[in-house]
Amino acid sequence: MTLYPGATIGILGDGQLARMMASDARRMGYEVAVFGPTPDGPGGQFASSFFVGGLEDVEAASAFAKTCDVVTLDTEHVSADVMRAVEQVCPLRPSASILCIIQDRLNQKRFLERNGLPQADFVAIDPAAPLKGTEALRFPAIVKTRTHGYDGKGQVRVATQAEVVEAVRAIENRPCIIETSISFDREISVVLARDKSGTIRFYPIAENGHRNHILHLTCVPARIDAATARHAEQIAASIAEALDYVGVMAVEMFAMSDGSLLVNEIAPRVHNSGHFTLGACVTSQFEQHLRAICGLPLGDTTLLHPVVMINLLGEDWLDDPGTVERAASLPNVKLHLYGKRPAKRGRKMGHALIFDSDLNSALRTADSLVRR
Ligand SMILES: Nc1ncnc2c1ncn2[C@@H]1O[C@H](COP(=O)(O)OP(=O)(O)OP(=O)(O)O)[C@@H](O)[C@H]1O
Ligand SMILES: [Mg+2]
Repeated sequence: MTLYPGATIGILGDGQLARMMASDARRMGYEVAVFGPTPDGPGGQFASSFFVGGLEDVEAASAFAKTCDVVTLDTEHVSADVMRAVEQVCPLRPSASILCIIQDRLNQKRFLERNGLPQADFVAIDPAAPLKGTEALRFPAIVKTRTHGYDGKGQVRVATQAEVVEAVRAIENRPCIIETSISFDREISVVLARDKSGTIRFYPIAENGHRNHILHLTCVPARIDAATARHAEQIAASIAEALDYVGVMAVEMFAMSDGSLLVNEIAPRVHNSGHFTLGACVTSQFEQHLRAICGLPLGDTTLLHPVVMINLLGEDWLDDPGTVERAASLPNVKLHLYGKRPAKRGRKMGHALIFDSDLNSALRTADSLVRR
């Protein structure tokens, strides 16, 4: 069934992704119901209605879903009970069965394994049992919590096997995985949309730079060769197809110096590395996601001009109040702020998009904008 403007899109979770989806949805004439902890959050500020609740609160989520024609999400960290409660009332995109695979890192890695897709070697760790299997792993490695990780939270780098037990303790003995640390050439992501009939549209591949495991900047087009780009698209498409995915999703990958690719992780939603599409592409990832989940034809993903996206974190406010002024003084910079209060270190407060026919010049502008 196609949902036309006037229908209500529900969004579970209220961060910047909810905000940008809500903003595009309102522009397109849809009503938006946001479900989050406080009514004045980033998405709530753009919502037509708001439901207060936590991502474990089945009763509140069910009341929210009853007002929606379709529900989507800002975060995949939604409890299984809430997903089920929503699905009893209206379609959830992506579905609970997809989210259960993605939201647990071990399930996600096993899914990739089943589908023969390349990734870093890993071992599952059960903190309640004696350590097993890690002696075969190549170190250094990274211990990662299986659930509720984001922006590198719940991750500890370990130099040797002897440090593993302490690292698991540092993430509160949560079930986790350990994977080999990869010496990649570049990090890239494929942001794609798949509609209900299985048609896939790719955005141009994004190249990502992280600092302290948090996305720092994205530049597009990625500086990779055409064969690697096609290969990355093939991998991402096979993931979307194996999941029978509908909507926008992102696949983060490590590009190796020998031309090979390893999947880092799958994001079942719009993604930080796709923010460049808001202004640099004909159709933003947010509009595209709405089109897909509403059953409308997918939009054009053509890149209009090269772009660098740089994330603005709490420290860019607290330590350097001149950031906004500098961004506003540049003719080719578009500033997106998320309406989050208060600013905190490591908290994503906004991003800037720098449009420039020359990518290196855009990267220099990005450097001058954020003086961290
Ligand atoms: N095995 C690895 N080898 C090298 N670097 C890694 C590895 N795993 C993670 N990293 C680095 O840490 C970053 C964050 O890791 P990952 O994507 O697993 O975390 P996350 O907390 O789920 O982040 P997010 O959801 O914000 O993307 C990666 O983009 C990469 O820069
Ligand atoms: Mg990641």
